[in-house]
This record gives sequence, structure tokens and C-alpha cells, in this order.
Amino acid sequence: MKSFLHVSDIGPLDAALAEAAQVKATPFAWQNLGKNKTIILIFFNSSLRTRLSSQKAALNLGMNAIVLNVNGDSWKLETEMGVVMDGDKPEHLREAIPVIGSYCDLIGVRSFAGLKDRGFDYGETILRQFIEYSGKPVISLESGTVHPCQAFADLITIEEYRTKKRPKVVLTWAPHPRALPQAVPNSFAEWMNAADVDLVITHPEGYELDPQFTAGARIEYDQMKAFEGADFVYAKNWSSYTHYGQILSTDRSWTVDTRQMAVTDNAYFMHCLPVRRNMIVSDAVIDSPRSIVIPEAANRVVSAQVVMKRMLESL
Ligand code: CP
Repeated sequence: MKSFLHVSDIGPLDAALAEAAQVKATPFAWQNLGKNKTIILIFFNSSLRTRLSSQKAALNLGMNAIVLNVNGDSWKLETEMGVVMDGDKPEHLREAIPVIGSYCDLIGVRSFAGLKDRGFDYGETILRQFIEYSGKPVISLESGTVHPCQAFADLITIEEYRTKKRPKVVLTWAPHPRALPQAVPNSFAEWMNAADVDLVITHPEGYELDPQFTAGARIEYDQMKAFEGADFVYAKNWSSYTHYGQILSTDRSWTVDTRQMAVTDNAYFMHCLPVRRNMIVSDAVIDSPRSIVIPEAANRVVSAQVVMKRMLESL
């Protein structure tokens, strides 16, 4: 595997899920695979889970992991081509990336969508430069359009908790005080569409996601109707894709509460975290026995380890 952005990069999902179960059961079985290998994890943005789970996955594989917080520990990096570098960014990605590539075997990059220029974000402009100029396999740790390590962990979690062959999975928009990227819902929709689940996406009008990720899923603007009979509820805020980066609604009636969960088939509640309590989800729901946000986060180590393992095996 040379890069990890999309569900197609992991190949058949049955095989990926079987490998995830194996990795989870025997996490240290591939310690020799990563011996004398190094992954550099580049963070342009904050993280708790992605940073720690990626480091843990690398350690499980016997790899060295180096973390670089761009703009914090390093020179500020210019990401746009053709600019006169007379501002506060003394180094360009064009030099920084091959230098980073010369120090490691794998690279992970977190570079959130800026939500100002849809073409720049949806062109995966920063991640594509890492792929082109590093000469090393590159993992998206949430980039302009996708968060594949999260979506893979979500799928592993659904596989572990499902009791039906084809569960109903509802992705619901929920309110948030700040404009957030579409990467998590994009990847969740893409991966669920590829999996054997009945995916329904619900959001206020104007929050339609890019059809390249959602095509095939049912869109339902009535949240209560969408929740009927659901087996899994996945809550997430995102800003508008069509009115790019804008907040079109702060309607608190979309906050996931016991009222909506009551019409589900005793659904499990999921969220990628971090989550704003009583904005995205009520305390009653996230603290209930049907909330699986912690095992979901724990599976971030498993998804990252499978991806790194595949990349090490293909070096
Ligand atoms: N879910 C997730 O990616 O969490 P972090 O932003 O803390 O890494």
C-alpha cells in the first residue's frame, strides 16, 4: 500500500476486518516487521487520539515513531506553490517533504481542511505533495477531505457490535459552535457505502456532502424518521460543502438525545471524539450503556496498525 486515503486503498473489507481481528488479538506478533523502521507523524493540527493511537500502533509493530508538530516544534511551512515567501513561513513544503522522507520509512500527515478554498482542500493539496515528493508511503491522519483511520476503526467497531447481518447505520449531523471540516462524515459515508450496512444520512437542508462519498446512501432530512429502527447512530457536525465552510444551522433540536434514541432499535451511539457534550449529544446518551465511543476510540490503534503493517509488508 503506497498511500492510505480511501476505502479502495485497503482492498476487500472482509480481509481487512479479519486482519484487524488478528492484530487486535495478537498486537505484538509483528514486532520484527518494524525493526529498524521509522514512521514520522506530521501534525499541522491538534490531536489526542490520532497522535497517541498512531504512536502505539507503530510501537506494537516494533517501529520507531517520531512526531513533529508543524508550527509548534518546527519552522512554519508554506504550503502554496508560486508564492513570494515574504511572510512568517520560512520553509516550503517542497524542501521540507523530501527532507522528512529521507529520515523515515513511512509518513503520516494530519492537515485539516482550511474551509476557505474548496478546490485547495478537495484537491488534497497538502497530502498530495507528501505523496509526490517524499518517496515514502503516506497515511492520511485526517486531511482535506478524508479521515480513513477513523472510518476503518468505526467499521471495526460496528463489526464487533453488530447483531444483524445488515445493520441500519445512521449518520446524523448535530450542531456545533464552530465550522468543522467534512472529512469524518465523508470517510464514514465512503466506508459504510462499501460495507454491508444500510446507510442513512440525515442533516438539515444545505448540509449535503460531496456525492463522491455519499452516492448510494439514502438522505433523509427528517432526523426522527431517519432514526427509526437504527442499530447504530453516528453523530458528527460538519460545515456546509455547497456553501463551503459555512455554518447554516445551529438548531439544537438536532442534538442527539433520548428522544431520538427511543425510536431506534436500541441503537449503539458512536462519535469519533472529541465531542461537545449537550451540543452534539446529551449526557444521558453518551453516558448510557449503549454508548460505544470508548471502544471505538480504542480501535484507532487497530486500524492504524493494520495500515502500517500493510505498508511495511509492501516496502
Ligand atoms: N477522532 C480523532 O481523530 O481524534 P483526534 O482529533 O483527537 O486525533
